[in-house]
Amino acid sequence: MKINRIEQVLKQGRKIVHLSSGLSGRESHFPAGILKKGFQKFLGNPLYQPDSKGSLEARKSICTWYRKRGFQIHPEQILLTSGTSESYFEIFKLLAKAGDEILFPNPSYPLFETIADMAEIKVSFYRLDEKRGWQIDLEDLESKINPKTRVIALVSPNNPTGSILSAATLKKVLEIAKKHRLAIISDEVFSEFVFGKKSFPRIATFGNSLTFTLNGLSKTYGLPGLKLSWIIVSGIGWEQQVEKLEHLTDTFLACNQIGQCMLPDIIRCGESFIAQYRRQLEKNCDLTTRNLLELKNVSFHKPEGGPFLFVKINGLAMNDEEFVIKLMKATGIFVHPGYFYDYDKELFILLSFAGEEKFLKKNIEKICKFIKACQVRR
Ligand SMILES: Cc1ncc(COP(=O)(O)O)c(C=O)c1O
Repeated sequence: MKINRIEQVLKQGRKIVHLSSGLSGRESHFPAGILKKGFQKFLGNPLYQPDSKGSLEARKSICTWYRKRGFQIHPEQILLTSGTSESYFEIFKLLAKAGDEILFPNPSYPLFETIADMAEIKVSFYRLDEKRGWQIDLEDLESKINPKTRVIALVSPNNPTGSILSAATLKKVLEIAKKHRLAIISDEVFSEFVFGKKSFPRIATFGNSLTFTLNGLSKTYGLPGLKLSWIIVSGIGWEQQVEKLEHLTDTFLACNQIGQCMLPDIIRCGESFIAQYRRQLEKNCDLTTRNLLELKNVSFHKPEGGPFLFVKINGLAMNDEEFVIKLMKATGIFVHPGYFYDYDKELFILLSFAGEEKFLKKNIEKICKFIKACQVRR
């Protein structure tokens, strides 16, 4: 990924507003009282009793969390990790050897390729279809499978497109996975931020293919600093896979014990935080899309969930990198260019609407004004 020209501008010392990060903003709004309660529990019993899967109490709480959401699991199916990035790395190591392939969606969050590189695994991309609200192009997906392919990774709600994979799409993915005997990774880190739908379609509830469902505290509770995530292993052969994964997680011993002590209280008392955050995000999404819709030659699929908007700008005589640099120089706002997501066929930018409403409104207005000025100049 070429980020040098953008990095140069970022390093020039000017104050830059980042309008691209997800829910892991600099400050957490999660109620401190709930965190304190969990921390007190740790202080009450700070013994080091590492369990390579994570503490049973924490895993039981995760089961309760999923039960409320219609997904029945057992604590034995869960392993705690120090972040979803680490979850990916461990699953890659579990399922693939050097030179094997993992299928990822395109556009795609850039971190995956870096982690796959570290695990010496090749990433092959399948297409998300912009014209169909960024659902999976299933024909393309199947055409990318070869004897080295081990896993199909899904990201729903998606970063960067904001799309949610429908139940119908997920069932078809399951058929493909079964036919080619592939495992599934379902990255659901934004699953709590779904707009206008009663339930979120979860692939692990539709079939019995071997599935690794990923989530954690980072996005769901806006607590990336606690570095606590989980892997749920379900479907055929989950027991053996958990056993093997446990050997991998054991290499680093158990993850952060303070976070593990806090997790049950966060889960028990955090539902109203999630609900409030979801309402705020939905409101922010409306505000952002309303402003952009007033512009000519700007199009997007309105996010169904998550904190991101992936916007296409037509008719400008510049590419995504030039646009981002000019925007930064003119307004001091940094958004991501499409090429960060391996998507630079046309001019796409990614912006996050996760910030405070007032801050967001001010910056979106500046971006709209900048786009209009570029269009007039053209
Ligand atoms: C889709 C997606 N998956 C995983 C991650 C990594 O999450 P964590 O903070 O738990 O490592 C991110 C981070 O932004 C993400 O956007």
